[in-house]
Amino acid sequence: MIRTQIDTLSPLDPVSREPFYRQVYVRFRNAIADGRLAPGDRVPSARALATELGLSRGTIETAYSILIAEGYFQPRGQAGTFVASGLKPPVFSRAVPEVPSAYAGCTVNMRPASIMPLQMGLPALDAFPRRLWTRLAARCVRAAQTSDLVYPATHGLAALRGAIATYLQLARGIECSPSQIFITSGYRNTLELIVHALLKPGDHVWVEDPGFPPTQLLLQHTNISVSPVPVDEEGMMVSHGIATASRARAAIVTPAHQSPLCMSLSLPRRLSLLEWASKNKAWIVEDDYDGEYRYVGRPLPALKSLDRHGRVLYAGTFSKVLFPGIRLAYLVVPEAEIERFERVSQVFSGGGPQLTQAIVTDFLIEGHFSRHIQRMRKLYGERRQAAATGLEHILGAHMRIEPQPGGMHLVLRMRRGGSDRSLAERIRSHGMYAQALSDWSIGKQVEPALLLGFTNIDSEITAEKLGRRILKLM
Ligand SMILES: Cc1ncc(COP(=O)(O)O)c(C=O)c1O
Repeated sequence: MIRTQIDTLSPLDPVSREPFYRQVYVRFRNAIADGRLAPGDRVPSARALATELGLSRGTIETAYSILIAEGYFQPRGQAGTFVASGLKPPVFSRAVPEVPSAYAGCTVNMRPASIMPLQMGLPALDAFPRRLWTRLAARCVRAAQTSDLVYPATHGLAALRGAIATYLQLARGIECSPSQIFITSGYRNTLELIVHALLKPGDHVWVEDPGFPPTQLLLQHTNISVSPVPVDEEGMMVSHGIATASRARAAIVTPAHQSPLCMSLSLPRRLSLLEWASKNKAWIVEDDYDGEYRYVGRPLPALKSLDRHGRVLYAGTFSKVLFPGIRLAYLVVPEAEIERFERVSQVFSGGGPQLTQAIVTDFLIEGHFSRHIQRMRKLYGERRQAAATGLEHILGAHMRIEPQPGGMHLVLRMRRGGSDRSLAERIRSHGMYAQALSDWSIGKQVEPALLLGFTNIDSEITAEKLGRRILKLM
């Protein structure tokens, strides 16, 4: 029975850059779309299919959970999992293209919907003050008037914009008025507003190489040409950008802790970037996603704090300093661009959830936010140390952990080379999380390395246990 069903699926590609869970997902969807699997058919159990394909059960379960969430599969308890009986023709006939092996770009799920050991991009969720949050939330719900139930202000709640302006001045050295601040639903939404307001298809934009894959993907989807600029120990190599794409319309940078290598953009580079932008009337997008988390000395002031000619757009997010499920971020625009952004935000933004904004406002103005960040900075310093020591202890002969001034993940260089992509894929298919540095690079070949989140590693012993599991997969 299982054999027959597996034979209806096209074979998996072991050298594809597409992770196995997605290959399984795509193959089931396509088998349903072209009628090889019919509504009501029973599919193999995750355990049986994993054994048959030589993959971990977790990999198959991830694929099945997406198929269930999207309505293709129906779990029926003890009876098993079935192709949903109610599939209607339009859904039924839509096949998804299988990503070819040579697909250029990161296909790794950057945002798994669960907490996995060593997962990147998540704050310490166990240390979030949930009781306090619940209290503030309950108070905001009780205080809501009928008039608060109307459409929220498009650019964000006035009180929140004011609270963010105060915070940015004190913590990040940025002088701005509340009207320069636009509340968004996350970094991608912020970038989307910037693209609509300031760029047009065909424009060139510098991005860091290696760099955060969603930036590059979003630009490509909006027909903006990506100009990769390499990074070295001082961050983005501005002179390289000037030499190769001096007429670019914008540069997107992560100056506090370069994403993903975590070095800071040096002062001379900051100044030459600002000079290039002001001479060429180009824009700088400062992605300050985790600028607060520096463990050596004090956090550096934002690049925006040095902007004398109104060229820097500052993108902040609450994903790292609160939690990513909140889906709340903000953009600070130069004063001269306020009207333009107001027009674009009227078109593209539906306004953020009023209640969430009210809770965050209270969290900020009552001082909980600053206290939380201070506590997290201390905790991350300790967890970083524990994770680095534990992993070094077990994996030190194979991996070199880079010293970094800040950030929320570790970079482990593979001393003996090999494929970081296949190691990261093996780690993910064994219930942990890792990303390969190669998946973050655009043009330049990078030394193989793993990117591992440390914020949810509570002790050196935990790190050693995870290190041992990784060692077995090497
Ligand atoms: C480089 C970088 N920029 C921005 C973000 C924030 O994205 P969001 O606001 O959608 O959570 C992240 C989150 O992981 C990131 O790594």
